[in-house]
Amino acid sequence: MKKIIIAIDGHSSTGKSTLAKQLAEALDYIYVDSGAMYRAVTLYALEQGFISDKKFDTDALISNIENVNIEFKKEGNNPTVLFLNNKEVSSKIRGMEVSNLVSKVAALPLVRQCLVKEQRKMGQHKGIVMDGRDIGTVVFPDAALKIFMTASAQTRTQRRFDELTAKGEQVDFDEVYENITSRDHKDSTRADSPLTQAKDARVLDNSQLTQNEQFDLVMEWVNTILEQ
Ligand code: CDP
Repeated sequence: MKKIIIAIDGHSSTGKSTLAKQLAEALDYIYVDSGAMYRAVTLYALEQGFISDKKFDTDALISNIENVNIEFKKEGNNPTVLFLNNKEVSSKIRGMEVSNLVSKVAALPLVRQCLVKEQRKMGQHKGIVMDGRDIGTVVFPDAALKIFMTASAQTRTQRRFDELTAKGEQVDFDEVYENITSRDHKDSTRADSPLTQAKDARVLDNSQLTQNEQFDLVMEWVNTILEQ
């Protein structure tokens, strides 16, 4: 059976990981959340005291980057439990503290080089769905299917706000809106691997689509490619 690489890029909180997980499960592919890797590096830098809302010691982070060990492990039904230096951090990386600093960390070329190298290794045998910001443009420019996801900022904020409050985190709607729109801006305007739509990407605006409608549409694209 032919195996392909599916690259999903797009703005913050567009539901990339939900779609990616559904596809990986249906196709029995590996799923990799590249954003979680940037979030893990950010958490590491926070925990080491290299960064905070007042301080950003790039040199300290860069010189310690080899000490960051990121692993995805399967636990029960969840294929993407994230471990940072052998500690489970899947929930911690989603909090506002990490969200507010991750785009600064992700703009560092050396951090990107290290993570992109890991991501390419994970995709060497294909049969992978990876989501992020530069997957179709930089990590896997030859991916057979590239999807660029977007939705209105209001819709995305509501989704992320609901997700965080469901987890019991105390958040303010305006703070989430500010985080999402400022990350969009930083991610799209940075010098190294900015978020842009690959020329051959299919745009998926899911403001008006349910998760099932979106999944069915993308599975049609996948099947057409697999039949070629
Ligand atoms: O969950 P959400 O869509 O809000 O973001 P994420 O996918 O967890 O990514 C968090 C941040 O990591 C992004 O805002 C980017 O700054 C960075 N990132 C990146 O630079 N390149 C990637 N391939 C994935 C994420």
